[in-house]
Amino acid sequence: MALKITVIGTGYLGATHAAAMAELGFEVLGLDVVPEKIEMLSAGRVPMYEPGLEELLRKHVAGIEGASGRLRFTQDWAEVAEFGDVHFICVNTPQKHGEYACDMSYVNSAVDSLAKHLGRPALVVGKSTVPVGSAERLAARIAELAPAGGQVELAWNPEFLREGFAVADTLHPDRIVVGVHSERAERILREVYATPVGEGSPFVVTDFPTAELVKTSANSFLATKISFINAMAEVCEAAGGDVAKLAEALGYDERIGNKFLRAGIGFGGGCLPKDIRAFMARAGELGADQALTFLREVDSINMRRRRDMVELAREAVGGDSSFLGKRVAVLGATFKPDSDDVRDSPALNVAGQIHLQGGQVTVYDPKGMENAKRLFPTLGYADSAVDAVRGADVVLHLTEWREFRELDPAALGEVAARRLVLDGRNALDPGRWRAAGWTYRAMGRPRG
Ligand code: UDX
Repeated sequence: MALKITVIGTGYLGATHAAAMAELGFEVLGLDVVPEKIEMLSAGRVPMYEPGLEELLRKHVAGIEGASGRLRFTQDWAEVAEFGDVHFICVNTPQKHGEYACDMSYVNSAVDSLAKHLGRPALVVGKSTVPVGSAERLAARIAELAPAGGQVELAWNPEFLREGFAVADTLHPDRIVVGVHSERAERILREVYATPVGEGSPFVVTDFPTAELVKTSANSFLATKISFINAMAEVCEAAGGDVAKLAEALGYDERIGNKFLRAGIGFGGGCLPKDIRAFMARAGELGADQALTFLREVDSINMRRRRDMVELAREAVGGDSSFLGKRVAVLGATFKPDSDDVRDSPALNVAGQIHLQGGQVTVYDPKGMENAKRLFPTLGYADSAVDAVRGADVVLHLTEWREFRELDPAALGEVAARRLVLDGRNALDPGRWRAAGWTYRAMGRPRG
């Protein structure tokens, strides 16, 4: 009999995982503690913008015309425990308020709520990003609470999906990592992932701590790569070099590679910043804090980029001590393109700082407007890039949406008060903007 799968927590990770499991042919039951999410998902709607996810959901949600009906949602823990052979824990692990450590309360409560009802054999699979050592602790907790005792097991299976590519990353993962304690757990997970493994996704079997560490170390490596190129941008700025050319030339070395070498205002989002901090906090608890002190530098290089962008903008609009009376157009609010996620967004952070220093900031983003307004209600917002730029003394390009690369600099020049653009993502074509009469400036690149 085919395995029945449940997915606990239906945010980015869970909603995508649930839809992907249905796409792979499994019967899936998703659970969330927020009733509005369950209502939306059951109607085939996704509570966030993620390309392709709503289509995939509508292909499978029971009750939608033409759907496979393999995917349903509930709020009932007993129903989930009764239904599932495999339970994926996909709840979030945010940064603790006022601390570097990660807040495990959602994971702990999900495991407790589920385990109490587990009266039949099952495999609980953790996907959330957690401090190393959590799986071992949670396995003991499950053994203590589950009525089915030793017939319930835990495995750890970190998730590497990127926002904006969540569906493709879940259906065709570049690797599948499973931390297991038994051959039975490995066998079940091989069955769950038979399709992607059959297509060539590597399947790496580890112990619990290694599986947990793969995720945090992968994110630390990516964050380090971005901060490395941003540090080089600072040196280029001082020495008169061009960081975009430098990155291109470095990228031809296959050992380095050209990905994640785009200098700019740095990384943000719901993962990289909080994951490197939680990793440092956990290493400290383990007595290995020295091993990760470099991440403190990675974090401060990253945060410095936001401040430097504000300084560049200040210098651009006149160089005096404030932005008073200056109109600043901000293109981009989300932490990356193809997402509506504004969590720890460098773009909004820069917009907010300029606003607090007296600038009249007008923001436009293709998908992030609602979330941005909720987080920063006092900023100005426009319905289009052209409207944001109208009357602006300076234009800041802060999230690299394709829409912004395709803007017509000549048309924008007609409505801007001054033709001055600062590219915080090194993604616009300087030649095109300069040809249309704009002064183009980016951090770590020569002034043209
Ligand atoms: C990240 C990891 O990539 C993913 O594997 C993990 O599962 C979750 O965290 P995500 O948060 O979606 O994914 O964003 P990512 O694509 O990694 O980008 C993070 C940030 O880095 C963005 O703000 C992006 O703009 C910035 N970035 C990325 C750069 O500044 N330069 C680059 O070269 C690449």
